[in-house]
Amino acid sequence: MTADNVSSRLRIAVVIGSVRKPRLADPLAAWLERELSAVDWIDLDMIDLASVSLPMHEMRPGGAAASPIAGRLADADGFVFLTPEYNHSFPAALKNAIDWHFTEWAYKPVAFVGYGGSGGIRAIEQLRTVLPELRATTVRESVLLPMAWEHIDADGHFVASPGATKALHSTVEELRTWARALRPLRSADPVGLP
Ligand SMILES: Cc1cc2nc3c(=O)[nH]c(=O)nc-3n(C[C@H](O)[C@H](O)[C@H](O)COP(=O)(O)O)c2cc1C
Repeated sequence: MTADNVSSRLRIAVVIGSVRKPRLADPLAAWLERELSAVDWIDLDMIDLASVSLPMHEMRPGGAAASPIAGRLADADGFVFLTPEYNHSFPAALKNAIDWHFTEWAYKPVAFVGYGGSGGIRAIEQLRTVLPELRATTVRESVLLPMAWEHIDADGHFVASPGATKALHSTVEELRTWARALRPLRSADPVGLP
């Protein structure tokens, strides 16, 4: 690996938005982990909200030092949100994790992998209205996995279609473009983040 390749590596955090037990998120997250850990420019961090304590009554505007994942979010150059759709929106646990943090999201891109009857499209579109408030930008490309429960094999693994795998790789390529472009903004801190 050349020095240029090393310096161009990016830390990408996958945020698993469902905290249900059991949940379809498990085989889908395993697929993301398999695919993304093989991408040569990605240092992958899998953040599972089901294993993180972010009590709603302790949430503060502007974030809170007590967050067990603040450091991991801060270290990320970009994010992939794995989100199901619940009642035409995204899970409350994911909104809570967004609200618990502030500067950790700023000037970073967020890409989406959605699932549900219609591939989680309504959850994703709602997330697109929330994230600019945190000065995060959202990536146009996305991965929609409609009826993903029909693509789980006998061993419980998600069997992605070639189209889904292709969409994932185009999506993370766009995420990479944005993550690189936004890096200088984070060091310049143009609006004086607290
Ligand atoms: C409370 C609830 C509401 C749901 N509402 C929708 C919905 O509005 N649209 C949709 O496509 N799927 C909906 N679903 C189906 C979920 O998208 C599907 O069950 C998905 O696999 C849940 O992901 P999870 O098991 O990882 O939590 C809903 C599921 C739950 C539990």
